[in-house]
Amino acid sequence: MGSFAVSGVASGMGKAAAHRLRQAGHEVIGIDLRDADVVADLSAAAGRSEAVARVVERSGGRLDGAVLAAGVGPLPGSAAAIVQVNFLGVTELLSGLRPALAAAGNAKAVAFCSHAASVTPAIPAALVRALLSGRIERVPDLLAPFGDYAPSFAYGGAKLALARWLRKTAVSTDWAGAGIRLNAIAPGPVRTPMLDALLGGETARDLLNLPVPIGGYGEPAQIAEWVALMLSPAADFMCGSVVYVDGGTDAYFRGGDWPASTPPSGLAGWLARQQAWLESGRD
Ligand code: NAI
Repeated sequence: MGSFAVSGVASGMGKAAAHRLRQAGHEVIGIDLRDADVVADLSAAAGRSEAVARVVERSGGRLDGAVLAAGVGPLPGSAAAIVQVNFLGVTELLSGLRPALAAAGNAKAVAFCSHAASVTPAIPAALVRALLSGRIERVPDLLAPFGDYAPSFAYGGAKLALARWLRKTAVSTDWAGAGIRLNAIAPGPVRTPMLDALLGGETARDLLNLPVPIGGYGEPAQIAEWVALMLSPAADFMCGSVVYVDGGTDAYFRGGDWPASTPPSGLAGWLARQQAWLESGRD
């Protein structure tokens, strides 16, 4: 049986994923602010490196998989924590755990993105660029124009940057080349303590009041089934995917936008990537 690190293990979808893995006989090393094997605060760089060190120690330096579910919802005053936990709390943990994942040979990692990455309208490109380039200090200025809605744009921006980081990282030599299958799940509204708290707030409710073609809310156990599949041999050929399980909201708003062919303006980049692949000697 395998050994899996799960962040956000104390609540909601992280808890459901851990339960599903334990039921299947796997060992789970849970990370959270409370009720976890590794109690660490992922909103601070020190907490993130401590979490990595303790998971590596507990796992003996070999992990079959990781689930990054810890997150902060777009409640008033949460913008800074969202950037730290939802973006850096995933990217830094994954980077720190990478050697342990590589040691397993065909490990799988699943990060929690959100349909907010694509259905939050008009997320500033500069915000996503700041996150991806490590210029986190720019984020407050970039969010200032959004006023009370800043947490919602921080949330959508952090999840969009995470999806972009993940798709580029997943296919790199250090990840795909080391046999690690890195993918993301992008849930829609799922009935967890995070969603319950958001449904009680005004500004978040405006953005949460989105059409769900299939109706209703998802359940944590449903998402846990998808996570389990993405950690199983069924995902051996899965790499860099962002799997939407959102009742159809993304397809409703963005059905005409994706999949999309590379536009003529992107052809030079397409050819350069193909050439780089040929020169890399990877098969
Ligand atoms: P939740 O609030 O039920 O659980 C989140 C967990 O993250 C909690 O146990 C919390 O203690 C932990 N956490 C928060 N800040 C932390 C910190 N600084 N250090 C360590 N742990 C921390 O949330 P839920 O709904 O289960 O969300 C799981 C993931 O799914 C999150 O990344 C969230 O953004 C994402 N998501 C949630 C949706 C929803 O409708 N519930 C929809 C789409 C994505």
